[in-house]
Amino acid sequence: MTRPAFEVPDKWKWFTESRYGLFIHWGPYAEHGRGEQVLFREHLDQQAYAEQACRWNPEHFDAELWAYQAKKAGFKYACLTTRHHDGYCLWDSAYTDYTSAKQAPKRDFVREYAEAFRKAGLRVGLYYSWIDWRLPAYFEGPQTNPEGWAKVRAYLHNQVKELLTEYGRIDHFFFDGVWPRNADDLGSVELVEEMRKLQPNILINNRLGYSKAHDGYRADGGVGAGDSETLGDFGTPEHLIVTDSKRLWESCQVTTWRLWSHVFGERWRPADYLLDMLCECAEKGGAHGGNLLLNVGPQADGLFPPEFLQRADEIGRWLEVHGEAIYGSDGGSVTEFITRGRQTTRGDNLYLIIRFWDGRPQLRLADLVAKVREVTLLTTGQKLPFRQEGDELIIDGLPKEAPTRLFPVIRVTWDGRPAANQWGRERLWEGDPARVAEWARRQRGESVYVDGAER
Ligand code: GLC
Repeated sequence: MTRPAFEVPDKWKWFTESRYGLFIHWGPYAEHGRGEQVLFREHLDQQAYAEQACRWNPEHFDAELWAYQAKKAGFKYACLTTRHHDGYCLWDSAYTDYTSAKQAPKRDFVREYAEAFRKAGLRVGLYYSWIDWRLPAYFEGPQTNPEGWAKVRAYLHNQVKELLTEYGRIDHFFFDGVWPRNADDLGSVELVEEMRKLQPNILINNRLGYSKAHDGYRADGGVGAGDSETLGDFGTPEHLIVTDSKRLWESCQVTTWRLWSHVFGERWRPADYLLDMLCECAEKGGAHGGNLLLNVGPQADGLFPPEFLQRADEIGRWLEVHGEAIYGSDGGSVTEFITRGRQTTRGDNLYLIIRFWDGRPQLRLADLVAKVREVTLLTTGQKLPFRQEGDELIIDGLPKEAPTRLFPVIRVTWDGRPAANQWGRERLWEGDPARVAEWARRQRGESVYVDGAER
């Protein structure tokens, strides 16, 4: 198992306990139904887009309904796009009139969201885009347009501080869209310091831009993935599940194909695919296991799309029974299990998350050391007979039919932490190749022919 590179401070433990968050991409772009970036990608007329945005009025938006649905689906926190790259704000900002509070809805959606989610016991996250496609000075930058840039920079800082002052405790903050600016232009290092004064417990992501002055803030292509030197409290691999050994990480993933906001006629990923991503994040670990921030693009009228709810509910029902394998789990990789599915650990338990149910009564796990106390098919609660022969664990009594449409889970409880021998700790393509040679030689000798022939 990967060794934790650092201790998670108590104030951030909720994040590793949670494992599963809901990303919400919502704004006037939902009316276009072709993704949150439609203004830029289709090179639309700015004025026409803004006029339509100002008329946008999502009559069915009900933050309490969202919170109820998110909670029921097993999410532990959420992150809402307060302002995406189109610049439209979902809160009552003192710095612009291009907001849901001043335009048609006459409502502060961020307030409604933050209050309802907090009340439901969910942690509250806010997404904020640095980039604003409406502002020429953002793209000209401080060298070409120093005066314009100073205004843009103040606007960004003021808005972020406003979001962290007016809406109670904010747990999670997701910056996005740094290009083409860098951390020095944006003053992101200074801003982060101010943010921590306003919200001492906040977790801030790593999309803060490259800085010459603060070498830590390196560019990583904007996708926030992997062991880069980028700072920020958590990494944000996008459309990817890769570990980060230096800090917490959270993979953000769509439920559809590619885009984040509601898209008309889009294809949806099936529930088992989505659940597998959650299990992969929990399994992969790195420093402290990974989270999945799974996205929904609510409809322009404010409702979660039925296709999303159906999948989220199915996963929620699975989590009700199998949640202990995910929430607060410690990553997996105790032994080789890829031929059956995924694995996670928690205290003295190893969870075998079975993706390939073959209907056979017996499951054999190689290379495990230490004594097993109990084996339970978590899906039904049934205790399973087992025996240990050397480093092998043999579990019997598995039902012919998979006991759930999603992934059945077997919990193996040990005397102490689950552990494997060297073979089990090292995967294919890893470790000392001598162990493979020894294994190959053991019975077969050196012959390239079929056993028993032409030795
Ligand atoms: C991006 C995109 C965007 C999306 C996001 C999610 O880089 O520009 O539309 O909001 O990241 O991570």
